[in-house]
Amino acid sequence: MSFLGCTKSAFVLCVGLSIVLLAINNMNEFGNGPTTDEEIKECGFYPGELCKALFEGKPAALVVGNICQAALPPSREEGEAILRSNCSTLINDLHIITKPLSAEEADYPLAYILTIHKQLDMFTKLLAAIYAPQNVYCIHIDLKSPKTYSQAVRRLAGCFHNVFLSSRQETVVYAGFSRLRADVNCMEDLVRSDLPWRNVINLCGQDFPVKTNKEIVRYLKSKWKGKNLTPGVIQPPHIRYRTQVAYKEFVHKGKSYVYPTQEKKAGPPHNITLYFGTAYYALTRGFVEFVLTDQRAKDLLEWSKNTYSPDEHYWVTLNRMKDFPGSTPDAGWEGNIRAVKWRDQQGISHSGCSGHYVRDICVFGLGDLRWLVDSPHLFANKFDPSRYGLVTDCLERHYRIRVLQGAAGVPLEPGWYFPDEYSTRTIQ
Ligand SMILES: *[C@@H]1O[C@H](CO)[C@@H](O)[C@H](O)[C@H]1NC(C)=O
Ligand SMILES: *[C@@H]1O[C@H](CO)[C@@H](O)[C@H](O)[C@H]1NC(C)=O
Repeated sequence: MSFLGCTKSAFVLCVGLSIVLLAINNMNEFGNGPTTDEEIKECGFYPGELCKALFEGKPAALVVGNICQAALPPSREEGEAILRSNCSTLINDLHIITKPLSAEEADYPLAYILTIHKQLDMFTKLLAAIYAPQNVYCIHIDLKSPKTYSQAVRRLAGCFHNVFLSSRQETVVYAGFSRLRADVNCMEDLVRSDLPWRNVINLCGQDFPVKTNKEIVRYLKSKWKGKNLTPGVIQPPHIRYRTQVAYKEFVHKGKSYVYPTQEKKAGPPHNITLYFGTAYYALTRGFVEFVLTDQRAKDLLEWSKNTYSPDEHYWVTLNRMKDFPGSTPDAGWEGNIRAVKWRDQQGISHSGCSGHYVRDICVFGLGDLRWLVDSPHLFANKFDPSRYGLVTDCLERHYRIRVLQGAAGVPLEPGWYFPDEYSTRTIQ
C-alpha cells in the first residue's frame, strides 16, 4: 500500500481511508473484515496514528478502527506463558516502570485493592498501568477463578516486593456480602504493611486508569486532603428493599447469585443512618485502621452480611459519621472516582455507548475513547479487551505517554515505552 500523494496534514485521514479502501476491497461479504495475516498487518501498520485519530474523534478512524478491531486476533488467556516466563522477562514484556517518577509521588504512596476473577490480559494491562514501586497492591482472586489464572496472577505478584495476594479469599457473588468481605480481607493485610501508604483505592478487573499516579496523588492531596472519598447520599426509598429483608448468597457449580428471603431485618445497629453510594472509594489509612477496630463499624459489617450489595452502603455510611477519621458527613455524590456510562444517563452525562451495555453499564467501544480521555475521573469502568481490543491497546499507550511526560528528575528508561506495534499484545 502506498501513501504517496498524502499531504502531511491529511496524513492520518489518508492513511485511514487507504486502510478502509484496502479493507473494503478485501471484504468478500458484507460484515467481513480483513482476514489474512497480511490484511491484519495493515491494520496494525500504524496503530499509533490510528489511535491518535480515534482520540481526536475522527469519524474515518472509527470506521477503520472497527474493521481492524474485528480482525484482531482474539486475546488469549496467557496464564501458561506467564508461568513459563521468569520475572525479568515479565517486567520487560509488560513495560513495568520500576522507579518512582517524581519525589512528590515517592512521598505519597498509595495502596490498591484489586478484586479480580477473569481475563488475565486485562489484569496485566491494569497492573502495568497503575504499578509504581512506592505503592502497594493487594490482589483478591475469586475462589471460583480457574487454577491457571490464579497461578499466573500469583506468579506475577511474586515478581514485586509490593504486590501480594490477600491472605483470605472469598467466592465472590455479584451484589453479595462476599464482595465487601474481599475488600475487608485486603484491608486487614494492608494495615499490617510496613509500606507507608496514605490512601487506599479499590479497583475491579474491568477498570482502567484515566488519571496518572501523579494526578491521582495531587487530586487526593488537594481536593480530599485527609478526607475519604465515598460518593453517595442518604439511602433513597427505592433502595430500601436492599436492607429490609434478609438476603442469601447462592453458590453451586459455577452458578452464583443473591436472593431475598421472607425474613424481615431489624434496622441497622447503633441507630446508624444508612447511606447509599458507589462501591468505589479512596480512603485514608486512619479511616481504614479505625473501621477495622471500631465496634459500630464491626456491628454494621455483621448486620450487612445478609443485605443486598452491602459494598454500596458500608463505606459511605461509615464515612458520613462525624467521629470517623477523615469523614465527610455533609458530602453527596461529588468526587471523581469513576467514569461510568450508565444507560439511564444517556443524553444527560454522555451521548451514548459505542460498545454495549452490560447490567446498564457501558462496556467501552472505540467511539468512547474521546469521552474517556476528557473525563475528570481517576478511573473508568468497564473494559473488555476480548471484545474491544483496540480500546485498551490505544488507551494503555496514550496513558503511558502521559505518565512518562509527567516524570520529574528521573531518567526515563527505553523499556518503559510501548513499541508502536501489536506484538505487545502477547507475552512471548
Ligand atoms: C529469563 O528468561 C530469559 C528468556 O528465556 C533468559 O534469556 C534470561 O537469562 C532469564 N533470566 C534469568 C534471570 O533467569
Ligand atoms: C434513632 O434515631 C432517630 C432519628 O435520628 C431518633 O429519633 C431516635 O430517638 C433514635 N433512637 C435511639 C434509640 O437512639
